[in-house]
Order: sequence, then C-alpha cells, then structure tokens
Amino acid sequence: RLFYDKDCPLDCLKGKTIVFIGYGNQGRAQALNLRDTFKSEQLEPTPKIVIANIKDSYSSKAEQDGFGFTSDWKAAAAEADVLFLLVPDQVQPQLFNELIAPTLQKTACIVVASGYNVFYKHLNMAKSNDVVMVAPRMIGTSVRTRYESGEGFPCFVSVEQDGTGKAWEVGLALSRGIGATKGGALWPTIIATFNEAYSTLKGLGCSDEALVHEMWMSKESAEIFEKAAEDGFVKQLVHHSSVSQYGQLKGSLEVDTTAIKKEFKRIAEERVLNGAFAKEFMSLDRDGPGVERTLEELYAKAKNSELARGEARVRERLGLK
Ligand code: NAI
Repeated sequence: RLFYDKDCPLDCLKGKTIVFIGYGNQGRAQALNLRDTFKSEQLEPTPKIVIANIKDSYSSKAEQDGFGFTSDWKAAAAEADVLFLLVPDQVQPQLFNELIAPTLQKTACIVVASGYNVFYKHLNMAKSNDVVMVAPRMIGTSVRTRYESGEGFPCFVSVEQDGTGKAWEVGLALSRGIGATKGGALWPTIIATFNEAYSTLKGLGCSDEALVHEMWMSKESAEIFEKAAEDGFVKQLVHHSSVSQYGQLKGSLEVDTTAIKKEFKRIAEERVLNGAFAKEFMSLDRDGPGVERTLEELYAKAKNSELARGEARVRERLGLK
C-alpha cells in the first residue's frame, strides 16, 4: 500500500520520548526532520528527542545541531517510548543486546532502517515490543535535503512485530514525521500549472510584463514562500491585503482539484514511488541518448513555452540577461 500524510496521524507520538541510537547518515537526517515536523505541526506535548551516541565526530554534530547527546545507553533505553536503531548494521546486535535491551521498556517501539538484523534474528527483543522498519530508499543527506525542499522520498514501512497492537500507527506516524509520506509530485505539477496560468491569462489580455512580475519576477512569490516557512503556510496570509486574503482563502476552496489530485497520484504512484522515473533516468546513458543530450532536448521544449518566450521578451525590453 502507498501511504500519504493524510493516512498517518501524528497524535500517537504526543509527549513520547524518542531515542536515536546513532547520529550518522540516517540518524541525523531523521532526527532533524522529526524535530522540524513536530515544530511545524505544533504537536503538543512535543515529543522529546534524545540522541545516544559514543563521543566522536557524530556526537559533536548532534551538539552543534542543538540536540546534545548521552553515552549512557542504559538510561537512554529506559526512557525510550520509541527507539531508532541507526548505527551500522554490524554494530547493532552487540550494542542492542548487551547495552540497550536490558533496560528497554517492554512496550517500546524499536525502529530499524534495514531489515537485516531483524530478519536474521540478531536482536533479542521482548515479544511485547513493537518492531517496525522505516527504511528510506535514500541516502541520509537526501532524506534531509528533500525534506527541506518539501519533496518526499520513497520509504519502505513494515511491521516486524506488533507487541502492543499499535505498531502500524506508530510506524506510519514516524514515517510521516521524517517526511517520507509526501509523494514527490510537487514541482512537475507546479511548472505545468505556471505554464497553463500564463497562457490562459495572456489569452485574456494580460501583458507579458504584468504576468512575469506577478508570477515570479517581482520576487513577491519568493517572499511569500519565505514567510510561509517562517510563520506557517496559512498564517503568512495575514501579511496580504484583505481583498487578497479573501480571494485566496475563498478561491482555494472553489478550485476544481479533481484533475490536480489525479495528476499528483499518477506522478507519485506511477513515476516516483514505483521507481519508474529513477529507472528511466538511470538508463538514459546506458540505453538512450545520454543525460546531457536529453536535458538539451527538454530545455529546448521548455524555452519554447509561451511563458518562457514571454519572459524572454520582457527581459530583453528591460535590458536584463
Ligand atoms: P552510519 O554509518 O552513518 O552510522 C554512524 C553512527 O553510528 C554514528 O552515530 C556513530 O557514532 C555510530 N557508531 C559507529 N560505530 C559505533 C560503535 N561501534 N558503537 C556505537 N556507535 C557506533 O549508519 P547509517 O548509514 O546511517 O546506517 C544506519 C542504519 O540505516 C543501518 O541499518 C543501514 O542499513 C540503514 N540505512 C542506511 C542508509 C544510508 O543512506 N546510509 C539508507 C537506508 C537505510
């Protein structure tokens, strides 16, 4: 099954203590994403995030990122409602079995990012524990950058042991928290929407100047997104005029989103999440004309759009590059 944000309520994480064992590739990205999600979703009581790590360059990073860290594995395990096990796979069995399992609460949810040690039964957990796999199909740095840019990333979620009966609920909430349930369909749809808006309004008599400035060149839209990041997507609207606020709030309820929904779903399911896009991209050099040549062709098409031709005219008239 495919899961999206709407399928994954965060409520079950309210007030919980979430311990990260390891602050490496995955640990750092997932902890930062979770912290940001709890903040942006204003989850109250805010879950507590604890980083447990040996003293090394990774623990310094945790300190720089404002988390701090503890090397007291037993104490960290004892307070964990959720325990992410994100040290290298070969390190996990000994660390978990000897230093974590003895004090881990019997109802804690253990989260792994790879099925390896669970499948081969290298971890000795109680039958009453939940064990879920939340495995981003993405390197840690991209788990973070794609979260920051508002994109999602493919991620496998599975329940390996449902000790409390709530393992799915917690696993899905965590997947959403780390940013894995957004789908990746936003930007192609935004580009297509801009193109359609441009052509339609041009057809209704708007000038190129008015359109390019209204849509992006005045940087008003960039400022709106910055405010959205700072204040909140909806809250930033208060900086606009009453007419604009009314128009945006009322108008957004009136847009027929059927086609957009269908398109988001198509891109997410049939292009991104099933790997078709990645497969196609990776085969460009191997079986096709190559990445550079393909990009040249795509740029040629994009530059020939009504929007791009309109912008070129305006830039020339304004003496801009
Ligand atoms: P990593 O290699 O980045 O782990 C480094 C972390 O482990 C640091 O916090 C370090 O202090 C700690 N560490 C290393 N040796 C230790 C030891 N002997 N005792 C205690 N702590 C030690 O790990 P990575 O790559 O994030 O992998 C974590 C889990 O995520 C693994 O199960 C891996 O299969 C899975 N995974 C990794 C992906 C990736 O992008 N690297 C992608 C998807 C899953």
